[in-house]
Amino acid sequence: MAKNKRIDAPTGTSTVGHEWDGIEELDTPLPRWWLLIFYACIVFAVVYVFLFPAIPLANGATRGFLGWSSHGQFESEMAAAAARRAPIAKALADIPIESLPANPQLMAAAIEGGRAAFKVHCVQCHGSGAAGSKGYPNLNDDDWLWGGDLATIQTTLTHGIRNPDHDETRISAMPVFGEILNPAEIDSLVAYVRTISGQQKPDAASARGAVLFAANCVVCHGAQGQGGRTVGAPKLTDSIWLYGGDAATLRRTITYSRGGVMPRWNSRLDPVTIKMLAAYVYSLGGGEAAPQVAATVAAPVSPAAPGGAPAAAPADAATATPNVQP
Ligand code: HEC
Ligand code: HEC
Repeated sequence: MAKNKRIDAPTGTSTVGHEWDGIEELDTPLPRWWLLIFYACIVFAVVYVFLFPAIPLANGATRGFLGWSSHGQFESEMAAAAARRAPIAKALADIPIESLPANPQLMAAAIEGGRAAFKVHCVQCHGSGAAGSKGYPNLNDDDWLWGGDLATIQTTLTHGIRNPDHDETRISAMPVFGEILNPAEIDSLVAYVRTISGQQKPDAASARGAVLFAANCVVCHGAQGQGGRTVGAPKLTDSIWLYGGDAATLRRTITYSRGGVMPRWNSRLDPVTIKMLAAYVYSLGGGEAAPQVAATVAAPVSPAAPGGAPAAAPADAATATPNVQP
């Protein structure tokens, strides 16, 4: 074929020697500027291969004479960042969590650190804005299952909730009432819970439910359904629901119970990170003062509580809707 090469008269360029149905191809030389860049690239590649990690081998790439690696750069940058943060981390490790609010600068640093850690470890369950979803509590409001002061949040995070592999975890189990009560009784309880949460008016069913509630539920949820933090039992008198306040969801919750689980974090995070996370959660809007103070704040909420336990709740509901008490 090559012997068919000839000089193409109009262009003065040699052909490559192939011919298809009378069509021939010109052997136009590559532009010089292109060739120079091409050779420069080859030279660059050779130099690069000697200086930097380049050729993958069975256990890691070649080292390169400069000794640089992206790993090494990452590690030295991390070490530098850790050194910069060291004084704050040390101060955070030393300060008891209750004293954080009195120390605004440290508190601010803790909240920032917590915000970053929250994005990594917590958003899968509690949502990016910590607003939660069904079964995962909203951490922005001041409705707490286990408590919203700094130390309590820290304990919740450290030990988790219903963590099967950890003795110190927060634990409590609402009974499976489907095995204890019959469906009609559970329906009455649903009516009662919907009454104390202001979703329906008291009726005969809710009155039967009130009696069942006093017998079965007040141990954990409180005489008025105000919730019980020692067992993480939600308040049932507001419109904030962990699982849902509609009749079908309530029936399911009461029949089967739920038992939400949160992993403990002391197996994955260091105490300073947990402290920062607690500060962040506390700062979201529902942070509470330490328990002694919280108790005095909570007291006026249930003035009728001492003594008149079961009867108090329907009476409350009746004041809200005076004309319908059966
Ligand atoms: C695997 C899902 C999951 C992850 C991840 C998770 N949580 Fe939770 N968290 C839960 C569940 C479920 C509950 C409620 C458990 C219950 O029913 O008492 C909860 C409860 C809480 C509570 C208690 C709220 C209250 O009202 O007392 C806090 C505080 C909390 N989580 C913070 C965090 C933080 C901070 C992180 C990240 C370090 C995190 N959670 C990661 C599932 C999760
Ligand atoms: C041993 C304590 C305990 C007893 C007794 C108990 N509960 Fe609960 N209850 C809880 C806990 C803890 C939760 C939190 C949900 C979970 O298990 O994750 C809960 C959750 C609920 C919820 C879900 C609230 C929401 O926000 O979605 C309802 C409704 C409820 N209980 C109703 C009742 C009723 C009605 C009774 C009585 C028949 C009762 N509970 C008895 C501990 C208890």
